[in-house]
Amino acid sequence: MGQIPIEISQLTRLVILDISTLSYLSASQLKLENPNLPMFVQNLTRITALYLDGLNISAQGNEWCSAVSSMTNLQILSLSSCNLSGPFNSSLERLKDLSVIRLDQNNLSAPVPEFFANFSNLTILRLSSCSLTGIFPENIFQVQSLSVLDISNNQDLHGSFPDFPRNGSLHTLVLTQTNFSGGLPDSISNLRQLSRLELSNDQFNGSLPNSMSNLTELAYLDLSSNNFTGQIPWFAMSKTLTHIDLSHNKLTGTIPSGNFEGLLNLIYIDLRYNSLNGSIPSSLFALPLLRKIKLSYNQFDGQLNEFSNASYFAVDYLDLSSNNLEGPIPMSILELRSLSILLLSSNKFNGTIDLQKIWNLQNLTTLDLSYNNLSINASLTDEHRLSSFPNMGTLKLASCKLDVFPDSLKNQSKLNSLDLSNNKIRGTIPTWVWKLDLLVHLNLSHNLLMDLEGPLQNLNLNLIVLDLHSNQLQGPIPMFSPQTTYLDYSTNNFSSVLPHDIGNYLTFTVFFSISSNNFHGRIPESICNATSLEVLDLSYNNFSGTIPQCLTTMSETLGVLNLRKNGLIGNIPNTFPAACSLQTLDLHGNRLDGPVPASLANCTELEVLDLGENQIMDTFPCLLKKISTLRVLVLRTNKFQGPIGCPMVNGTWQMLQIVDIAFNNFTGEIPGKWLTTWEAMLLGEDETQSELNHLQFEVLKYTRVYYQDTVIVTSKGLQMKLVKILTVFTSIDFSSNQFEGPIPEELMNFKALYVLNLSSNSFSSHIQSSLGNLKQLESLDLSRNNFRGEIPEELASLNFLSFLDLSFNHLGGKIPTSTQLQSFSADSFSGNKGLCGLPLTENCTSDWSSSPAYEKPHSDSGSSIDWKFISAEMGFAIGLGFVIGPLLFWKRWRIWYCKYVDNILCRIFPQLYLEYESYRGQRYRVLRWRN
Ligand SMILES: *[C@@H]1O[C@H](CO)[C@@H](O)[C@H](O)[C@H]1NC(C)=O
Ligand SMILES: *[C@@H]1O[C@H](CO)[C@@H](O)[C@H](O)[C@H]1NC(C)=O
Ligand SMILES: *[C@@H]1O[C@H](CO)[C@@H](O)[C@H](O)[C@H]1NC(C)=O
Ligand SMILES: *[C@@H]1O[C@H](CO)[C@@H](O)[C@H](O)[C@H]1NC(C)=O
Ligand SMILES: *[C@@H]1O[C@H](CO)[C@@H](O)[C@H](O)[C@H]1NC(C)=O
Ligand SMILES: *[C@@H]1O[C@H](CO)[C@@H](O)[C@H](O)[C@H]1NC(C)=O
Repeated sequence: MGQIPIEISQLTRLVILDISTLSYLSASQLKLENPNLPMFVQNLTRITALYLDGLNISAQGNEWCSAVSSMTNLQILSLSSCNLSGPFNSSLERLKDLSVIRLDQNNLSAPVPEFFANFSNLTILRLSSCSLTGIFPENIFQVQSLSVLDISNNQDLHGSFPDFPRNGSLHTLVLTQTNFSGGLPDSISNLRQLSRLELSNDQFNGSLPNSMSNLTELAYLDLSSNNFTGQIPWFAMSKTLTHIDLSHNKLTGTIPSGNFEGLLNLIYIDLRYNSLNGSIPSSLFALPLLRKIKLSYNQFDGQLNEFSNASYFAVDYLDLSSNNLEGPIPMSILELRSLSILLLSSNKFNGTIDLQKIWNLQNLTTLDLSYNNLSINASLTDEHRLSSFPNMGTLKLASCKLDVFPDSLKNQSKLNSLDLSNNKIRGTIPTWVWKLDLLVHLNLSHNLLMDLEGPLQNLNLNLIVLDLHSNQLQGPIPMFSPQTTYLDYSTNNFSSVLPHDIGNYLTFTVFFSISSNNFHGRIPESICNATSLEVLDLSYNNFSGTIPQCLTTMSETLGVLNLRKNGLIGNIPNTFPAACSLQTLDLHGNRLDGPVPASLANCTELEVLDLGENQIMDTFPCLLKKISTLRVLVLRTNKFQGPIGCPMVNGTWQMLQIVDIAFNNFTGEIPGKWLTTWEAMLLGEDETQSELNHLQFEVLKYTRVYYQDTVIVTSKGLQMKLVKILTVFTSIDFSSNQFEGPIPEELMNFKALYVLNLSSNSFSSHIQSSLGNLKQLESLDLSRNNFRGEIPEELASLNFLSFLDLSFNHLGGKIPTSTQLQSFSADSFSGNKGLCGLPLTENCTSDWSSSPAYEKPHSDSGSSIDWKFISAEMGFAIGLGFVIGPLLFWKRWRIWYCKYVDNILCRIFPQLYLEYESYRGQRYRVLRWRN
């Protein structure tokens, strides 16, 4: 048959032409190298079925439509992957008998014609991956005969469900990855024969109708990644269900224990990323065919019961992580012999687990028990059994109270990801770790490790991520392979000079941090060979010498350059490239002098600039005014001088939220007009609430690793380290300069301002009553100026004020009476010759100006909150360098919600959890540290 030449033009009596099944005939024998559909089908009017799937026809909409429409008896039109273009032509309307339309995988880029709904015999309509546009005609859902509808993978196709007809025939309904929205109508239960319903990755919302429980033929259900709300319907009547995926929605409520009962065919259930609570229905653990159970990222609570007959179950994937489950892990889990993946992290499971028992699960490849209250016993009592251990690929035992390295991993030649962070492992990192050939991800951070067992030469390491931060490692740093992408050695006791050829070991490194160690010597120029670097953090070391010129040149790729707190001297190199993409430049706390380099103006994406505590002698760097992305500007404690404002330079700082230019020699008045461009300070609480974000730099895209910016904010008389700068935290510190004049009236519009420090300047005038507009103010320091007159009543309306210092001015009169102002200590008002009334002991006489001076030594102890004490009481790990105290009391955190708002924080500090806290009579959600 294969050799018989066929002349298409002679096939005029052909009834069915199915080229796709003619496996012996090649396209060339059919003379179809460039099939010209119009010519080819011209006289084939009797054809009822046309299958040309996969044939490269390359025809425009008009061409193929009019050709096809000449076959007026056509019932089956199957042209998938034929390289057809759109749009549909109305001539198709003639094909009234069409029952099957398969046009998937053609780049039609057109709307679906309404007249498809007129094909009253239509049973199958497949239009997936056709780049369809417009609104899908609702009537098509109502074609009584339609049983298969697949329009998936058309992201620009909009639409919503109409009411479904009684006794509809739909059996398969696939709308994955479209732009459909709206709800699922109650009438879905009219589709008695519905067996496959796939609506994932659409924009559906609303609750799932209870009537779904009448879909007794349902076998495959995927509603994942929508915005469905409400409860999970009762599925116990859909006995044929094999697959349930409701993940990534907003479903709430409990699941009645009988739901899912008796679903003897169920193989797969995925309810991840919802807000379901209550206990996990035990009926799930009695379904014989169930293989995958994925319930993570919900709020399931309570204890898990032991279940009987565990050895009969086929479960190979069990994911219960990130819930609130408590009590012991049921031992029957360890009898699920088929288990390959077991994820129980981030719950409140407690008790002790013997790692050796887990190794009885012979098929286990992935185990995550991290961040519970578990104690894992990793000691190996039976050395002989090592060989019978399962072959693990991923093992995560973070925060499991481990105190030794689990020796049983020694022979785990397949291990590719190992997380033993946040334990109490002491001593030495054994050599065998570096000999695990397949290991690509190693996290040993937050332990008590002292050194690395040698020798470290000639190791064939494939590590991509190596995180050793927060240990007590000492000596020179180990350099492994240039392909390590993420290298974090920060917060250890490493001490040495950096190897002069260090750049050669960082060829593919994207993230490199050796912050908070004891490195000294110069920064080697070779580090500039690390051309993949996006984050370079050498902060908190003893580096000396100058900043290599090439380092700032690198900022075409570099996003974060942090050299904070070293002993660097000389100028900041004036070599920022034209395409500078730096987002964070932190040179705080060195001995740099010279001016702010002009080329810094190239860094138009700069968000954080901290040049504080150096010896920079310059006028105000007007070039910064052009960097509209700036959010944090710190010039504190330098030798800047002269006026600020730069009237000659245009520019706005609509993102600016923290500005600290204290302890310089700036002079003149604060230019009010300029302040009007600081829009971030103007936003009211409501406007910012929805955007709780942190300043951060995304390092490894796709893996969601971020570099968190840090800044020290002086507030309430204490310096506080904001590890994570919330994008709505605002602070202005102009203190200890020589500013004069009044506080500009424009500043009184900063409704979002938290901290205002104008102390130790020469401001003179009255304290304006409009200061009462700054409703968010928590800390106000106007001390040591020349303010005169009375304290305005409006100050008493600042409800959130917890630190106030008006001392050492020329204020007078009676301190306004309100519980607010009287709750501050006398120190807040001292040094004003004319003030009287509580909390001062001086009574008000009729002539206040003659009141005796009230000068007591100034101290900080007077603030109403002792932040040091509070952060400690909160159980915050100050020893680890994290102080998030000031944010704790932040009223805007009431909507704080780990799951939605701050995944990142929860990832980096997974031991944080949320609790309600009363503060100033309101309940707030606050973060606590889980021990
Ligand atoms: C179709 O039929 C007409 C009239 O019978 C004939 O002239 C024409 O050549 C045919 N077309 C093809 C492609 O064979
Ligand atoms: C639908 O199909 C039936 C039977 O297959 C046939 O009798 C009827 O004519 C068809 N209707 C249309 C409009 O094609
Ligand atoms: C869910 O709704 C939110 C806003 O209401 C929207 O931003 C988001 O894109 C929606 N998600 C999905 C998957 O439809
Ligand atoms: C299911 O169908 C039956 C019969 O049509 C009806 O009485 C019942 O209310 C339906 N159940 C739900 C939950 O809609
Ligand atoms: C484990 O947690 C349960 C429930 O939270 C509690 O009752 C029990 O005392 C805890 N056991 C231990 C050993 O802490
Ligand atoms: C373990 O895995 C192997 C290979 O995939 C499979 O044949 C075997 O049935 C599994 N064992 C159990 C108890 O499921």
